[in-house]
Amino acid sequence: MSTRSPQIAVYPGSFDPITNGHVDIVNRSLAIFDQVVLAVAENLRKTTSLFSVEERLEQARAVFPDPRVEVDSFHGLLVDYVVRRGARVVVRGLRALADFEYEFQLAHMNRRLAPSVETVFLMTGDKDFFLSSSLVKEVASLGGDLTGLVPEVVRTALHARFGRK
Ligand code: PNS
Repeated sequence: MSTRSPQIAVYPGSFDPITNGHVDIVNRSLAIFDQVVLAVAENLRKTTSLFSVEERLEQARAVFPDPRVEVDSFHGLLVDYVVRRGARVVVRGLRALADFEYEFQLAHMNRRLAPSVETVFLMTGDKDFFLSSSLVKEVASLGGDLTGLVPEVVRTALHARFGRK
């Protein structure tokens, strides 16, 4: 009988707001890991977020009723949080070329800070290749169609924030 401990992956981000690209990464992570902790970062350099951390947590919890997905927030260094959670893996989605340099820097700095924590990159699905929270916010603010870009709960929240044009 196997007694291995559950493999937990932490999927960190600002998730402002969560998009269908993020949803895809969580679902694919669940095929690899026993449990995924979607971790909303509280102390980002991005000072102007559209949704508060509490709103983002609420949205993510509505999107992921699966008990294998835990939605949490963290403050401070990501690697400290990962170690505190008893995890060894950070999952990040990788989109088109533009993501690469930043993700490379982040993964290397995290490895330097905590060599036991490994970053695993999942390439985004082709339909999400150019999908980002920033673009979603822009489209929403200008009254564009959000179908297929974000979960329903997020679409409703964006319409409430920007009004439906
Ligand atoms: O979705 P984002 O904004 O690309 O996510 C970036 C995030 C939250 C993963 C990154 O900024 C982060 O880990 N912040 C926590 C502070 C930290 O540990 N910084 C990395 C040291 S290089």
